[in-house]
Amino acid sequence: MLGLGIVVGALWAMLPAYVPNNAAVLAGGGRPIDGGRTMGGRRLLGDGKTWRGTAVGVLAGAALALVLDAVAPAVESAIGLPLPLFSTGASVALPVGAMAGDVVASFLKRRTGRERGAAFPVLDQLDFVVGALALTAAVDPAWFLDTFSPWHLVVVLVATPLLHVGTNVGAYLLGLKDEPW
Ligand code: CTP
Ligand code: MG
Repeated sequence: MLGLGIVVGALWAMLPAYVPNNAAVLAGGGRPIDGGRTMGGRRLLGDGKTWRGTAVGVLAGAALALVLDAVAPAVESAIGLPLPLFSTGASVALPVGAMAGDVVASFLKRRTGRERGAAFPVLDQLDFVVGALALTAAVDPAWFLDTFSPWHLVVVLVATPLLHVGTNVGAYLLGLKDEPW
């Protein structure tokens, strides 16, 4: 059954995948990953996907996994709910997969004629979730199956778009992001 433990456990497990995008917004700039290359007259990825943003995003997500593992026992006893611990593979695969999903989405946006920053509803909200879950399942299937029951996945797929829209509107209002998506 769906309970508070599942909601909290699912969101906790996804935090190392949520943080990279936001860290990239703060750290972005410098050399674009595609080096300015084009395909069919359009940029491969665009200036919104940079090496610095991607590297800082991955490091921030992996660092967060370490911090969460360190504080999990104390938080568990404070809230009385079980929390997942991150394996080494999951600590890396969650942020790398999240950034990779975002990069793949930019590639698809450019191929479909969308300029940098253009909205692509649903893809924008779920690209990093699908990337993070898929890479983590491939890198550490035992951890993945242990951490995400079907209910956990339902929570992630429903809650993530809401959290994503919320944080992006917040970053836009704070002047950190050019568009509210
Ligand atoms: N960013 C980055 N590297 C990444 C992802 C994001 O440097 N891998 C930074 C860029 O400065 C980017 C900002 O974070 O402009 C916002 O990210 P996002 O909304 O994903 O990029 P967009 O600029 O909207 O570009 P796109 O249309 O390609 O998604
Ligand atoms: Mg964008």
